[in-house]
Amino acid sequence: KETQRDQWGSRFGFILAAIGSAVGLGNIWRFPYMAYENGGGAFLVPYFFALLTAGIPLLVLEMGLGHKMRGSAPLSFRKIKEKYETLGWWTVLITFVVTVYYSVIIAWAVSFVFFAFKQSWGAKPDEFFFGEYLKMTNFWKIGGIRFNVLASLALVWGLNYLILFKGIKEGIEKASKIFMPLLAVLVVLITVRGITLPGAIEGINHFLEPDFSVLKDPSVWVSAYGQVFFTLSLGFGIMIAYASYLPKKSDVVNNAFITAFGNSGFSFLAGIAIFGVLGYMAQSQGVAFKEVVTSGIGLAFIAFPKAINLLPGFNGLFGALFFLCLVVSGLSSTISLIESFSSSIMDKFQMTRKKAVTIVCGLGFLGSAIFATGMGLVILDVVDHFLNNYGLAVVGLVECILLGYFWGLPNIKKHVNGISDFKVGVWWNIAIKSVTIPILTIMLAFKFKAEVTSLYGGYPLSSILTLGWGVVVGLIVLAYVMKNIKWNEDVLLDADIVK
Ligand code: PHE
Ligand code: NA
Repeated sequence: KETQRDQWGSRFGFILAAIGSAVGLGNIWRFPYMAYENGGGAFLVPYFFALLTAGIPLLVLEMGLGHKMRGSAPLSFRKIKEKYETLGWWTVLITFVVTVYYSVIIAWAVSFVFFAFKQSWGAKPDEFFFGEYLKMTNFWKIGGIRFNVLASLALVWGLNYLILFKGIKEGIEKASKIFMPLLAVLVVLITVRGITLPGAIEGINHFLEPDFSVLKDPSVWVSAYGQVFFTLSLGFGIMIAYASYLPKKSDVVNNAFITAFGNSGFSFLAGIAIFGVLGYMAQSQGVAFKEVVTSGIGLAFIAFPKAINLLPGFNGLFGALFFLCLVVSGLSSTISLIESFSSSIMDKFQMTRKKAVTIVCGLGFLGSAIFATGMGLVILDVVDHFLNNYGLAVVGLVECILLGYFWGLPNIKKHVNGISDFKVGVWWNIAIKSVTIPILTIMLAFKFKAEVTSLYGGYPLSSILTLGWGVVVGLIVLAYVMKNIKWNEDVLLDADIVK
């Protein structure tokens, strides 16, 4: 007998959840800087090219696969071929580890919502962040648990738990209906404030001013593909799991386009807001613009607090809104990350949602504690670098090769075209086989070359081997073990029907 699979309540709910997963820290602190570094407005050319030739085709592929197979990544791949299940597990194990540290960054943002009101970081935000708040140490000095970070982490995991426990419609969908409109309001508020500051226009010009000469540089194109891949949460098994909860008749192609463009729109607004504020900062300090731009953790937890210190009024409130924006966009991403892993456990062990989510969130919170130590930030940096480049990108590549050459593209295409208004044509096959596969291969070759010529981040070899390569390979081994655990026959029964 078939157990009833959870389902989205509406198409709109699914789209909000998919956009919620896609919109995250990458839109706020990665995209704007990428564009600035790679030709400003001219970066939009390779960016949209990558979106159309890799981002959307892969989104259709992942959504189509999950929808057709009605399963998480391991189950969906297993239904194609027994051996492929290992790829599914590798994907979701990577996803789980990413969740464990992604949630730590959200936890910092939670703390900073409160710090913002009082500007607790004082005159030297860098000393405050690394010193007073994280009490950062380096490899291999663990330095003890930072209980203030752990407290925020408990809140982050607790919220995720409450949402996921309730399921797809009552949990993820309802939460997305609160999170996404809230996020939209926050971004608009921050953007309006950002662009009305003196010097803002100058900053925004730096963000958008096109330098078309960069289009000759292959590394700019590689960056665009990397960004598109990351920003759409591809290669995490998320879109496979989310689409498996769609009703049988659902326009997959349309949903993929809306998700992709919604995500890009958000990135673009975030870019304007961030560069407006940075422009103001450069002007009020009387320094060159390039001295104030940074991305990532430095932008959010150091440069932004500095900018907030300089604001002419309402600075505490503005700061809190900014960090709240990070928290909300982060939570809507972590729920999708956790769902990808939990749904795999539910499928494989025929476990109830409540049990699976309890186990996954419990383990996740415990795992996060490692990142809440003095050594947390450097561990996070290494694990993230290796999983992003040699996990995520490799998963994407292998996925395209397996589905492209051994099974799938025609099957998935037939499936999605049968239920979508706007149908994918030959461009879709070409995009995956002749564009995405070569580009991802080149991207990996570039990165790998950098890896063997120097130690990432100048960290000790022992950390690169264990937390870098060790984690990547360890997860492959674990994936293989998971694959070899026996399935409950009932779950696999319809595998033959699908073939
Ligand atoms: N897409 C997210 C972003 O742009 C990153 C992310 C990837 C989040 C995978 C969750 C899962 O920030
Ligand atoms: Na994104």
